[in-house]
Amino acid sequence: MEVLTSKRFEFSAAHRYWNAEWSPERNVEVFGKCTNAYGHGHNYVLEVTTAGEVDLATGMVINVTELKRTVGRVLEGFDHKHLNEDMAYFRDRQPTTENIVQVLWSLIAPELPSGVRLHRLRLYETADIFADFYGGMTASFGRSYQFSAAHRLDSSQLSPDENVALYGKCNNEKGHGHDYRFEVTVDGPVDPATGMVINLVELDAAVQPLLDELDHTHLDRQHAFFQERPSTAEHVVVYLWQRLAAVLGRRLRWIKLWETPNNIFEYGVREP
Ligand code: NI
Repeated sequence: MEVLTSKRFEFSAAHRYWNAEWSPERNVEVFGKCTNAYGHGHNYVLEVTTAGEVDLATGMVINVTELKRTVGRVLEGFDHKHLNEDMAYFRDRQPTTENIVQVLWSLIAPELPSGVRLHRLRLYETADIFADFYGGMTASFGRSYQFSAAHRLDSSQLSPDENVALYGKCNNEKGHGHDYRFEVTVDGPVDPATGMVINLVELDAAVQPLLDELDHTHLDRQHAFFQERPSTAEHVVVYLWQRLAAVLGRRLRWIKLWETPNNIFEYGVREP
């Protein structure tokens, strides 16, 4: 049986986005503040997920000490560096999260012991922006967002007593509320001109109307979708999907919703 194991690593680096074939105006339009000539920096977090059979003698897929050594050697080349100016990999491509994660894949995958396969690399540029790579022709880019809303769990198909029995406190007539957080993952080919699957500005623009609509509202009282069905997190994640798919089309891959930090719901075309 194949088991997935993940370990997180950190490195800090500077970078800058600039396409020399474009005018300065076009660069600023696409890359915004990331064009600053001197660079800026991030505390990157790399999540390495490996897959393999559990070794009968050790009970492990991969020896963690060995993984730390392997990934550590690779990250030494990145940590406390200026990615554009210190690293040859980024002379001919933008040091975007999508491109960095692909370079890391090319350096880490061949170094794993036989029988262990690199399943996924997820690179966080900030706590809420990340890129995923699975070794294929496409990469994923994701960001998390949040909105605060009230709701009440109540089904028109159940009697008042049945609603109380099923939903308990969540059936409180006037409602209660949550800080909902959701992660939107989009995938596709990485554009060689921008180094991106989707521009963050475009992703934010796709999500903003939804945030404007839902943030600081009462789901059941103010939104038709939840007047017709209980405002369970299952229905919320499907609603987010439908609204975003209408804008992002087939690029939308996965949505992960936290109703509270402990209650998590996911929906998408295929599991990341
Ligand atoms: Ni940056």
